[in-house]
Amino acid sequence: MVKKIYLIAISMMVLIQSVFSAEEGSLLSDGFKEIIDKEISFQWKVEGEDLLIRLSAPTEGWVAVGFNPSRVMKDADYKLAYVKDGEVVMEDHFGTSLFGHKEDTTLDGSNDFEVTEGKEEGGITSVIFSIPLNSGDENDTILAEGDEVKVLLAFGTRDNLSQKHKERTSVVITL
Ligand code: HEM
Repeated sequence: MVKKIYLIAISMMVLIQSVFSAEEGSLLSDGFKEIIDKEISFQWKVEGEDLLIRLSAPTEGWVAVGFNPSRVMKDADYKLAYVKDGEVVMEDHFGTSLFGHKEDTTLDGSNDFEVTEGKEEGGITSVIFSIPLNSGDENDTILAEGDEVKVLLAFGTRDNLSQKHKERTSVVITL
C-alpha cells in the first residue's frame, strides 16, 4: 500500500514537472527562447517587426507550427514545411475546421514567411524561418512581443503537407 502511494506521488511529480517545463521557455545563449515537448523543439525570438523561428522534430517528413487556434486546430495560423533534396518547401495555411487547414493562397491570402535554411540530418528535420508579427493577411494571427500565445506543434512522416500528424502537442509561450 505504502509502495503504491509512493509510486502515485512520484508519477504526479513527474506529470506536474512535464506540464510546467512544457510551458516555460528556456533562454538560449543567442537570445532565442526554446520549448521542447514530445521531442519537438520550437525556438523563437522577436526581432524588429518579425518573429524568428527554429523548428525541429524527429522526422524525415513534415514539421509544422500553428498559432492561436480558437478550438482544437480551427482558426490557427499554420506554417508547414519539409526538406527535400536540401531545399525547404514551406506553405502558409489557415485552420478552416476543427481538424483541417487550407493554404492561405486558396483563401484570398498570401504566403507570409521567409525561409532562412533547413536540413534533414540523422532523422531530424530542422527549419529556420521568419514571419511578420503582423502580415496584414487576415489568415494570419497578429503577434506582439510579450503576448501569451497558444502554439500547436506537430510532425508527420512524409514529405506531404496533407498528411495527418504522427505526433502533435500544444504549448503556451510568452513571445
Ligand atoms: C491533414 C492534416 C491534419 C489532420 C487530418 C489533422 C487531424 C487532427 C485530429 C483528428 C485531431 C484530434 C486529435 C487527434 O486525432 O490527434 C487533431 C488535433 C491536433 N492537431 Fe491536427 N491534423 C492535421 C494537421 C495538423 C497540423 C499541420 C498541425 C500543426 C501544428 C496540427 C496540430 C494539432 C494539435 C496540436 C492537435 C491537438 C489540439 C488540442 O487537443 O488542443 N494538426 N488533428
